[in-house]
Amino acid sequence: MDKLAKIDAAIRRYYTETYQVVSQDLIDAILYSVDSGGKRIRPLILLDLLEGFGLSLTDSHYEVAAALEMIHTGSLIHDDLPAMDNDDYRRGRLTNHKKFDEATAILAGDSLFLDPFDLLARADLPAGVIVQLVQLLSSSSGTFGMVGGQMLDMKGEDQHLDLVQLAAIHTNKTGKLLAYPFCAAAIIAEQGEQVRDNLSVAGMLVGHAFQVRDDILDVTASFEELGKTPQKDIRAEKSTYPALLGLEQSYAVLDDSLNQATAIFQKLAKENGFQADKILTIIERLRLHA
Ligand code: IPE
Ligand code: IPE
Ligand code: MG
Ligand code: MG
Ligand code: MG
Repeated sequence: MDKLAKIDAAIRRYYTETYQVVSQDLIDAILYSVDSGGKRIRPLILLDLLEGFGLSLTDSHYEVAAALEMIHTGSLIHDDLPAMDNDDYRRGRLTNHKKFDEATAILAGDSLFLDPFDLLARADLPAGVIVQLVQLLSSSSGTFGMVGGQMLDMKGEDQHLDLVQLAAIHTNKTGKLLAYPFCAAAIIAEQGEQVRDNLSVAGMLVGHAFQVRDDILDVTASFEELGKTPQKDIRAEKSTYPALLGLEQSYAVLDDSLNQATAIFQKLAKENGFQADKILTIIERLRLHA
């Protein structure tokens, strides 16, 4: 099995083998969104970084990767709800509330926000490592991360924000959850403070860049490329980088953040023996060119 199949298997195992089923309808709705695919960039970053630190991947590493992808998938289900971005398509299929109904989609999202902490707590890793992974996943996702950022995003509709306010939205709604695998890899590989700090900075750079990229693609890409309806941000009068800076400068912001992250990994490779080839490939793939 390749990494993608193993991530999916870890999520499926949690929902089919851990407990006696309470509601099959709920599990069907959860797995509908999980099985719709997606790029799986967050879990792949985690796994590639762990290999970069010289670790052989275990089931537990896949469970941490699965927990992260579950939270992300839950965030997409809620992001698409009529009360939020009101989207009909996600990952090339009908959104969860369109396929099922709104109540089911809300509950599927709730499940995908809470179940990952059970999955993490059960992982066969040192207790101290698990506590750190749980703490960071919660703070990156909740009031002080993704959910907080989503609130700023909603409040920012129809408003003219400045660059500092926009960066705060992007850092929180997307950046922190995308930075999670960078920090989690350093925690699991039990790295010292200096390496952890470097990974944290690289993660925030890539995380922020990822939402700038998503904003650019909303303007430039097709439904077939995105699996979701393009040009939604303009219609919703969202604050985005292209709206504020124009496309040209948005490409420059994306490139600049990716360059800075690349430099961090090149330094880690030189000074700490970190094998950076896989993460550098992922970072290169995030570049967009006009
Ligand atoms: C989309 O995330 C929403 C953002 C946070 C920008 P992804 O682009 O990672 O979506 P999937 O998982 O590949 O569908
Ligand atoms: C989503 O940002 C951020 C999340 C926390 C899910 P967007 O609203 O831009 O994501 P898409 O474009 O719908 O995937
Ligand atoms: Mg949104
Ligand atoms: Mg959206
Ligand atoms: Mg978007």
